[in-house]
Amino acid sequence: MDWRTVYNAKRKPAKEAVKAIKSGDRVLLAHAAGEPLALVDAMVEMADEIGYEDVEIVQMVAMGHSLYTKPEMRKHFRLNSLFLGAASRECINSARGDFTPCFFYQAPELFRTTLPVDVALIQVSVPDKNGFCSFGVSCDYTKPAAEAAKLVIAQVNPNMPRTLGECFIHINDIDIITESDAPIPELGLSKIGDVEMAIGKNCASLINDGDTLQLGIGAIPDAVLTFLGDKKDLGIHSEMVSDGVVDLYEKGVITCKAKNFNPGKMVIAFLMGTRRLYDFINDNPVISMMPVDYVNHPMIIGQNDNLVSVNSAVQVDLQGQVCSEAMGLKQFSGIGGQVDFIRGAALSKGGRSILAFPATAKGKTVSKIVPFLTEGSCVTTSRTDVDYVVTEFGIAKLKGKTLRERARELIKVAAPQFWEELAKTFEERFHEAYE
Ligand code: COA
Repeated sequence: MDWRTVYNAKRKPAKEAVKAIKSGDRVLLAHAAGEPLALVDAMVEMADEIGYEDVEIVQMVAMGHSLYTKPEMRKHFRLNSLFLGAASRECINSARGDFTPCFFYQAPELFRTTLPVDVALIQVSVPDKNGFCSFGVSCDYTKPAAEAAKLVIAQVNPNMPRTLGECFIHINDIDIITESDAPIPELGLSKIGDVEMAIGKNCASLINDGDTLQLGIGAIPDAVLTFLGDKKDLGIHSEMVSDGVVDLYEKGVITCKAKNFNPGKMVIAFLMGTRRLYDFINDNPVISMMPVDYVNHPMIIGQNDNLVSVNSAVQVDLQGQVCSEAMGLKQFSGIGGQVDFIRGAALSKGGRSILAFPATAKGKTVSKIVPFLTEGSCVTTSRTDVDYVVTEFGIAKLKGKTLRERARELIKVAAPQFWEELAKTFEERFHEAYE
């Protein structure tokens, strides 16, 4: 049968489509800029009428209103999140929902084993002439989860860019189709202040011509990119990217020509940015969107020579233990791909990993470099994995250093107003003066 006939037979309005979700189902939502908002909103709107009970919602980065997290929705939905954003943070920290710690590269395997998916709500591009839709801005866990799900409901959106790589699903593999031309959620440009610029400059000094980069999200990765204008032949192998890579590609700085692995391609799992980024990636053969169990697998990352990863952290103690996801018992975000890339960079010939963050938080009243992690907090990156720590005050190289040397390195890059307190801990522990 021609795929167009199949397509038409599967079309339903969003409010009809979500009737296929049953009480007790585990429903996986595509995330970040790929979240199928029309379907998610319809699911919440119809919850009373359909009478869902105990539907488990699994997601990572929520960009929508996340109305299923509201207290009045608890009788219908229970959130089990692998990463937190603003809405899920309140839900999980008030114990209405749950958080599952997970390395990003292992999420697809969870959806095939421990957390089998009943229904996947996804968003894709319009089909091409052969009936294939692209996962567009978010391939990551979404493609493997859709392959593993018992039922796939897709929001087909003409605004979703058609990205290339291993990121297609055929109309035959979708069970229900809802059409929507809602704009793809955008992430505005970050505000880069003096502190971020100083951190960006320090990080850029660790990046060489021909390196392949993984950059996280936010002001610091964006600041790093602004200092790379004079580099040559940089490559990208990154869980996610944002608008900054477009500037550097157009300037001829990112060429991916020096990459020994996937040369000529930016290998990416998901993207979040403005429409400019989404137009850039549309039908662009330089962009290779791949599932996250490929992009983030440390052994795949490690096949790139000179891989440099740049991520951020909430707190680092004087041994170099890094918490990037919690403030005490309060879960703030998640593990994401941080450890995947730190371990991947360690496997890469010439690889380096950088954790970069402002030395202080809360209007400079709190040091992020601390004698001990806050009680109740967790270690995201272990002291054995950590490599470089960078703040606006400098660069601390920790890998291969003794505990004593690490503490000295870290105090050097802490904010000066906290030196005295940190030095006191150093002297108590190592029985020598810190000068
Ligand atoms: N103590 C108290 N508050 C702290 C704090 C600390 N040690 N560190 C940060 N905060 C507060 C900040 O003051 C800020 O609050 P405000 O907005 O009220 O001022 C808030 O927490 C967010 O801090 P910020 O530094 O702006 O966070 P960020 O948006 O740069 O994100 C991480 C930093 C670490 C949370 C984020 O990078 C993350 O989730 N990392 C883990 C996942 C990852 O690395 N993935 C790989 C790449 S996508």
